[in-house]
Amino acid sequence: MIEPLKGYDLAGRVAVITGAGSGIGKATALTLAAVGVTVIGGDIDQAAVELTKEEIAQSGGQARAVRTDVTSRADVDALVDGAQAEFGRVDIMGNVAGIPHNKMIADTTDDEFERILAINLKSVFYGVQAAFRVMMPQKSGNIINLSSGAIDTPAPTLACYAMTKAAVAMLTKTAAVEGGPHGIRVNGIAPGVIHTNFSRHNFVDEEGSVVPEKVEQYKKRFGAMAPLGRVGEAQDVANAILYLVSDGAGFMTGQILRPNGGVSMP
Ligand SMILES: NC(=O)c1ccc[n+]([C@@H]2O[C@H](COP(=O)([O-])OP(=O)(O)OC[C@H]3O[C@@H](n4cnc5c(N)ncnc54)[C@H](O)[C@@H]3O)[C@@H](O)[C@H]2O)c1
Repeated sequence: MIEPLKGYDLAGRVAVITGAGSGIGKATALTLAAVGVTVIGGDIDQAAVELTKEEIAQSGGQARAVRTDVTSRADVDALVDGAQAEFGRVDIMGNVAGIPHNKMIADTTDDEFERILAINLKSVFYGVQAAFRVMMPQKSGNIINLSSGAIDTPAPTLACYAMTKAAVAMLTKTAAVEGGPHGIRVNGIAPGVIHTNFSRHNFVDEEGSVVPEKVEQYKKRFGAMAPLGRVGEAQDVANAILYLVSDGAGFMTGQILRPNGGVSMP
């Protein structure tokens, strides 16, 4: 008899997740922990990633929280090396941390350009390098990089953001080619509009507090763009990541999966 769900048993594996303090990274950390994965979460927001760790511990899972600035190669190396030192292996590397940038090309400053490259692109390169260093001798591993639906549809004000995410998609494919012979799968996720802190500017007041009516307007406006008629939740993306890092997705590498409600279908 076939056992199709056997490929989804991740108990005992070890995952490093950046951006684990909020949104997609947090949902991914909680989801992997819920199926028995030990999660080492990194985030520049230490209090937030500590909270993720506490939530996992309260549900009976195992987690660590490490203050990590993904723009620092030393921080990313320490996050991954620390996981290997404590748990002996790293099976999953999720390069999730990222920030939005909404400005016309003509108005974008050098500092902004450097910052978005550092947080959204160079960080992922550091993450892939650090993961390769551990996974190649291990001869196994799964890497997930967060790209974006912005790579499919050019839009005003999104040049810098979309450029970094398109580069992440290309890095993902190249890393898949280099990692494959070592038993490492590398896949990307290009979500559509997902209701997280990332989109906060759409639904907060001038003091930065969430306004419920604005949340509803945001969901209605962006949800209307999708054939499925809604925006995504962080859990929608975590579910896609759970699939990709499972052995059930064992023949998937170099792919960009699009949990986007059908907004784009390249
Ligand atoms: N939410 C969306 O609509 C959407 C759509 C497509 C892609 N994405 C991508 O998904 C990823 C996660 O976004 P999210 O929606 O969960 O956003 P979020 O703002 O909820 O979470 C991002 C997390 O990254 C952390 N972070 C920011 N800068 C960091 C740094 N320098 N070092 C370490 N951590 C840092 C933040 O503290 C935060 O906890 C990002 O890469 C984003 O570009 C999001």
